[in-house]
Order: sequence, then structure tokens, then C-alpha cells
Amino acid sequence: MDSATLQHRANSQLAATDATTLLAEALKPGATYPQVTHALEALLAVAEKGLEGDKSAFAQYQALLLQLHVPGEPRTEPTRRWMASQVYLVEDEFAPDLPAFAALPVEEFRKKVDAEIEARSRVTHPMSLHLFQGTPSQQDVRFFLEHHWTRSYNFYSLLAELAFRFEAIEDASVFYRNLYGEAGAEAPDRSHPALLSHLMTHFDIPLNIDFPRLQPLEKAYLNNRIRCVRHPDVAWGLALLYAVESVSCVNHRRIYELLQRMGVPEQPSEFHRLHGTQDEIDTEEMWELIAKFAPDEAFQRKFMQSLARHFAINKAYFDGLWQEMQELSDHRA
Ligand SMILES: [Fe+2]
Repeated sequence: MDSATLQHRANSQLAATDATTLLAEALKPGATYPQVTHALEALLAVAEKGLEGDKSAFAQYQALLLQLHVPGEPRTEPTRRWMASQVYLVEDEFAPDLPAFAALPVEEFRKKVDAEIEARSRVTHPMSLHLFQGTPSQQDVRFFLEHHWTRSYNFYSLLAELAFRFEAIEDASVFYRNLYGEAGAEAPDRSHPALLSHLMTHFDIPLNIDFPRLQPLEKAYLNNRIRCVRHPDVAWGLALLYAVESVSCVNHRRIYELLQRMGVPEQPSEFHRLHGTQDEIDTEEMWELIAKFAPDEAFQRKFMQSLARHFAINKAYFDGLWQEMQELSDHRA
């Protein structure tokens, strides 16, 4: 390695450490405005470097962004939201290019969106083939479910965030109706996180998530979901939730069938039985909301950019999980 490369590495490491230290200081009670802006500048520099392809900067920026995203000290909430919103602006600059993009009439646009979602399905991913068509070990399934919990336990908060983006109550109500179901309607012990927690207990999976220890790609996946539903342009959040929702029923049904094959009792399997037989959100109702915005060319472009980024992150994240699952399995053998 030449000295210029070494120097470059040393500088990146210094910037990364600086951003971490500065952010910690900026989120302490009584931090001054210059401390906050200084930390933000360091964070934005790390984010830019990470998005340009520097792996260690990428890991650093995702870790810091997740720190801004997960619930923390309530008094720092406005600061954390504002700082995150500035990171989104950097991420906007790196949004997928889509050179072949062309706006379409709304009906054609839906066909294109649905075809894209179908083409990017997780069904053919090697980890899915192993889990749902192969003979996965109990440990493999436990590993998969642990990460399923990390992704899904707070789905309701994505709905709540996106609902806030709509001024008209009839638009927001698409998400509020769903939130009512997520929260267990009139029975909080029937909330969807509560139902899913029974499965975690069955597999002896802790409910507390150690966020700092997650892999960078898992952090990126979680961050992108939160970013999309908080983004001031609703195209980002609508695309993300539509993509997640369109495949929810099929994905959960396959997991339910796997649990059945493994002899998991009815109570811990209930979350997957319910989600495998009905849509979380009525996708038709959600499409009606999307269709209100879809005649706008800029909306269509951002919607497709959101899909492209979600699927790229999703693919990298699932590749990472699959690799880790195999390594753990080799280690046990
Ligand atoms: Fe749910």
C-alpha cells in the first residue's frame, strides 16, 4: 500500500471517529448550536464518502444515522430528526439514476411498478430457497426469525410516520385504518408486535434489539425504511410501503408453512397465519392514493427511484444474511 493510500485511510478513520465523537457531544443535554452544526457537517462528510463507495465510511454513516433514527432521549428528538433530514438531502443526491425512465399513463405506470416488484421478489433468493424449499436447521430458522423481528417489530411506526405526511384526512386515513389493526383494534394484547413476540419467545429470541451490533447492511435497510416514510416527498414512502405490502401476504404465508412443517404450535404461529391470509394494508386502497399523485412525472420518477434503492439495499442485505447463516452453520458443523 503506498503512502498516499495510507494517508487517505488515516484521514477517513479520523473523520469517522470525529463524526462519532462530535455527534455524541451534540446530543448531550445543553449542547450548543455550533456543536450541533459541527457534528452535522462531520456526519454529512462521512455519509457522502460512504455513498461514494468507501466501505468503512458507509458503515459509520449507517450507524450514526440509525442512532438518530431509533428512539432515544426525548429532548434530543427534534435535533435528531433535523440532523437525519439533512442526511436525506445527501442521499437524495445519490438517488438511482434511472436512465431509461419515461413517465407513463397511470394504468401503465401501475403495471410497470407491479412488474418491477414481481421481478425483484425474494422468492428466488438462495436463502429463501434454502428456508422454504430445502431442509433448514432449527438454528437457521431461528437466525432468520431473529432478523425478521428486527425488521418488523415496529412496522406500525412506519405507517404512523407516513400518515403524518398527508394533510387531507381522507388520504392519511388509509394508514390510520391499518394502524388500528396493527395496534390490535380494541385488544392491545392482540397488537401485531405482541403476536409476533410469541414466536420470538417460542424460539428463545430476545425482544430487545442491540442496534449498534447490527451489520451495516441491516442498519442501511432499517434506515432506508425510516428515511422513506419521513421524506417530505411522499413518493419515497408510498413506494416503499407499497413494495413491502405487495409481497407481505406471499412472504408470510411461506413462513407460516415453514412453521407448520416444523411443528410450531398455533399460538406462536398466529402472526404469520394472519399475515399470510390477508393484506396488511389493502393494496387496492393504497394504489388509489398513489394514483392521485401518479399523473405527475416527478412523482413517478421518485417513486421508481425509491423502488430501485429499496430493492438494491434489500438484495445486499439478504445476501449478507445468507452468507452469515452459512458461516454460522459451517461453524457448528
Ligand atoms: Fe401487521
